[in-house]
Amino acid sequence: MERTYIMVKPDGVQRRLVGEIIRRFENRGLKLVGLKQLVPSRATAEAHYAVHAERPFFGELVDFVTSGPVVAMVWEGPDAIQLCRNMIGATKPVNATSGTIRGDYTCDMMLNLIHGSDAPETAADEIALWFKPEELL
Ligand code: PPS
Repeated sequence: MERTYIMVKPDGVQRRLVGEIIRRFENRGLKLVGLKQLVPSRATAEAHYAVHAERPFFGELVDFVTSGPVVAMVWEGPDAIQLCRNMIGATKPVNATSGTIRGDYTCDMMLNLIHGSDAPETAADEIALWFKPEELL
């Protein structure tokens, strides 16, 4: 069993896609172990995207993710990290195939609806950044 951090970004919340996204993960058989809605602080967003701090889009990405409510979640299941990444679809819109969340609902590199952890170490770091242990059931 593996746990992964998933976040519906402000555009996904504004577009009322939270239910659709949760439905997809539940239908696939994953288990929801943590869920909350919040407006991220700048410090949390900067820590979350710290690996991209030197990239040109970093400031805009932090502005975007702190611009409104996000839905932070932890999902659990076999190979949950890669499985969720596959369901989310590629970051580059042209590579996000139909049937994936991004492939079905967006063609924008920034307004791409959802984040998913990309490796076990980052998943552990992200879960610890966004959730207290007692918030995971
Ligand atoms: S990359 O290109 O492989 O490094 O992209 P990735 O590691 O998957 O994720 C980078 C995150 O930054 C967001 N973002 C952008 N990436 C690349 N280029 C541009 N212009 C850009 N703008 C925003 C991208 O959506 C990824 O966010 P998350 O939330 O991690 O999916």
